[in-house]
Amino acid sequence: MARSHSFIMLLFLLQLINNSSSHEECRELSCGPYEPIIRFPFQLVKESSQHECVYPEFCLYCTQNKNTMMVLSTTSGPFIFFVDYIDYESNQLSISDPDNCISEKILKLNKTSFPPYRFYSESITKSSFFNCSSFKKRHLRNEDQSSQRSQDMITCPIYISDSYDSVIALDLVSCTKMFDTSNIFVQYLSVSLSWPEQNCTKCKAKSMKCKWKNNNTKGKTECFDCNKKRKTIQIPKSLIYASTG
Ligand SMILES: *[C@@H]1O[C@H](CO)[C@@H](O)[C@H](O)[C@H]1NC(C)=O
Ligand SMILES: *[C@@H]1O[C@H](CO)[C@@H](O)[C@H](O)[C@H]1NC(C)=O
Ligand SMILES: *[C@@H]1O[C@H](CO)[C@@H](O)[C@H](O)[C@H]1NC(C)=O
Ligand SMILES: *[C@@H]1O[C@H](CO)[C@@H](O)[C@H](O)[C@H]1NC(C)=O
Repeated sequence: MARSHSFIMLLFLLQLINNSSSHEECRELSCGPYEPIIRFPFQLVKESSQHECVYPEFCLYCTQNKNTMMVLSTTSGPFIFFVDYIDYESNQLSISDPDNCISEKILKLNKTSFPPYRFYSESITKSSFFNCSSFKKRHLRNEDQSSQRSQDMITCPIYISDSYDSVIALDLVSCTKMFDTSNIFVQYLSVSLSWPEQNCTKCKAKSMKCKWKNNNTKGKTECFDCNKKRKTIQIPKSLIYASTG
């Protein structure tokens, strides 16, 4: 039993190796088990190979800790973010700050533009920005805030609350409200961005996939046939991750 399992495992691996070189576009990659699946329009490359991305704005890489990363190019320079979630149906992704201060990054991003992305928002949700620089305590009085990823109010004094937060339960009464906005969607210290839909109708009609034209014609797509390839054994996609090694 065990032996036949390891034989099948070997077949998986051979299949993966076999696929990896020739038909990158047919694989769905991920940096780790709980990380987003990466497929068109995104490309996954090694951190050191980002220049190889056909479309740099859709270029992702993995860290050794299996975090999915993106370098967001803005009109005031590049910002590095964790990519926490990608929704291919609605063309949006959630990004968070490796320096654990998303509020400050959002204030900076709001002063720039970062095409082809823009802030995604569900207009019904309202966020409020508070300046808590006079608060002088490390954490707000709130259970979520004592988790490992919680915001350090000393080094990161701008707090973003959503409509469900209670100003009193959170100690926000000692903070100064800056403004309310419904243009920015922040949840669990992640902010959502959307990207313009890529027109793949032509390829989908032929049961093919879209890929970036590997040419200097930035932004052009072409169809790619994954069906002709030998059928690969399905394995949990979460097991496939590209290491940076
Ligand atoms: C972003 O900037 C606009 C003006 O350009 C301002 O009205 C809005 O409040 C700002 N939002 C944030 C979150 O900074
Ligand atoms: C927050 O308030 C402090 C003290 O009033 C001020 O120095 C700081 O510039 C404010 N931060 C922002 C982002 O407005
Ligand atoms: C997508 O492209 C096809 C032609 O390739 C065109 O007929 C169709 O209108 C386009 N759809 C959108 C939403 O742009
Ligand atoms: C790039 O694409 C253009 C237009 O699709 C084509 O004419 C050209 O030959 C391509 N160049 C290369 C190097 O593939």
